[in-house]
Amino acid sequence: KTGPFVLGIESSCDESAVAIVAADGTILAQAIASQDEAHRPYGGVVPEIAARAHVEVLAPMIDRVLNDAGMGLGDLDAVAATAGPGLIGGVMVGLVTAKALAMAEGLPLIAINHLEGHALSPRLADRGLTFPYLLLLASGGHCQILEVRGVGNYRRIATTIDDALGEAFDKTAKILGLGYPGGPAVERLAREGDAKAVPLPRPLKGAKEPYFSFAGLKSAVLRAKESGDYNDADIAASFQQAALDCVLDRTRRALGEAGDVGALVVAGGVAANAPLRMALEHFAREHDLRFVAPPLKLCTDNAAMIAWAGQERLAAGLVAPEGDPLDFVARP
Ligand code: KG4
Ligand code: ZN
Repeated sequence: KTGPFVLGIESSCDESAVAIVAADGTILAQAIASQDEAHRPYGGVVPEIAARAHVEVLAPMIDRVLNDAGMGLGDLDAVAATAGPGLIGGVMVGLVTAKALAMAEGLPLIAINHLEGHALSPRLADRGLTFPYLLLLASGGHCQILEVRGVGNYRRIATTIDDALGEAFDKTAKILGLGYPGGPAVERLAREGDAKAVPLPRPLKGAKEPYFSFAGLKSAVLRAKESGDYNDADIAASFQQAALDCVLDRTRRALGEAGDVGALVVAGGVAANAPLRMALEHFAREHDLRFVAPPLKLCTDNAAMIAWAGQERLAAGLVAPEGDPLDFVARP
């Protein structure tokens, strides 16, 4: 493990996370606190509750992570924090924490775009992954295809015009009474169903622009359920197949628009879906691309990816010696 050592802070949604990452990608220590319990009674993330929870846990988490790494604040070389996009209260808590540390310890602050954290995290998991690569980022909040050309050089090729893919899984789960988060439950139930049983639309399939849309699919799932003509397992399997068909079609289109990429990378919570991973792996092989699916704990929200993005920015010379300005503004 070699310096510089970067402490990363993530607080843009409902996970508070802190990590210390070395220049060679070694994760020296990390901690993550999920707020699921606090939000469960409300059926979704309540921004004010999230922000207050970050305030309570971040400082002790920083102590714990330093302790686990056998380091003191003086051993750090920089502090990186998510500066947006995210729920503004939470982003402010993490960023202000990082600014305070930077100021008190005389360390450079590195303000990280949360999506840059996601975009670069596959290189933390797989140090052999070189630019440029095509990244499908699919979670409850994000649904994008990016051409990752280099550090600080991203081209967004596709995004969703309505729901994110994970959101579509969650809504389908809700319609089928499966609870939250719904993705894993839908995948499990789908194994017992017939993917051809329920005729469902493939929104935007074949469309020239590589955008995603899942709202119409979700409505069709609701109508199928309300019709009483189908069993839940068949609905789950048919939904999953339709979503998968859309993703493959949109990825194919996005690849046509991308430059000469060498790998297809899938990240975000939905990357846990086994049929989706298999279909994408097959697609990558067909197109002579390397297929990279980082371990889930690095591609769902975490702080190691924020610290790592800080390392990448340092190595690329994108951080001024004094760091980013301490009045750097948090973005919603
Ligand atoms: O990245 P993530 O943990 O959090 C954010 O949304 O930021 O992603 C969570 C999303 C949820 O929508 C969840 O239902 C979905 O990922 N998900 C899945 C599976 N596991 C998690 N979707 C489909 N199949 C899965 N096995
Ligand atoms: Zn995220």
